[in-house]
Amino acid sequence: MKDNIILIGFMGCGKTSIGTRLSKKLSFSFLDTDEEIEKREGRKIKEIFAGEGEACFRQMETNLTRELLERTEKTVISTGGGLPLKEENGRLLQKLGFVVYLDVEKETVLRRLEGDKTRPLLNGPDKEKKVEELLTFRRPVYEYTAHICVDTSQKSFDEIMDCILRNYEIMMAREKEKKEDE
Ligand code: S3P
Repeated sequence: MKDNIILIGFMGCGKTSIGTRLSKKLSFSFLDTDEEIEKREGRKIKEIFAGEGEACFRQMETNLTRELLERTEKTVISTGGGLPLKEENGRLLQKLGFVVYLDVEKETVLRRLEGDKTRPLLNGPDKEKKVEELLTFRRPVYEYTAHICVDTSQKSFDEIMDCILRNYEIMMAREKEKKEDE
């Protein structure tokens, strides 16, 4: 496993906010997969969804994840909420670094994303039902993919970061021992 930290979880769970703080604390770089795709494509995610469709966006996510595995280290990576769903992406993420799932309640997602128009999957008529359906389907996949799950509901940013950092140190120490045994 590489020394990156990867944040996965549902839209609005705080991946970007926590990721930027974590990267500063560790003096790591920070990369957001959505931002990276938008930068490379020169357009917004909702435009990619509207133009070529979701499948095309998902392929961009896979291509980017493959590439990150080749060249990224000492980086906190915030992933788009749907990125870990593809089996190949899940496997790549586990090699790319320490995978942290930030779990969030439906109510928090709805509050944080009220009025948001940037996420095409939530732009339909019944946002609450959609969030509920997606969360039910995705939670087990996030849990299965991650090395640790952090319940963010009753925690401050500092508590979430401490929890991630403690576990990251343990994981890296184990990786070191594993290499020494080889
Ligand atoms: C998506 C989440 C979004 C973005 C796209 C699809 C999803 O990222 O990748 O709108 O399928 O959950 P965030 O999780 O950063 O909002």
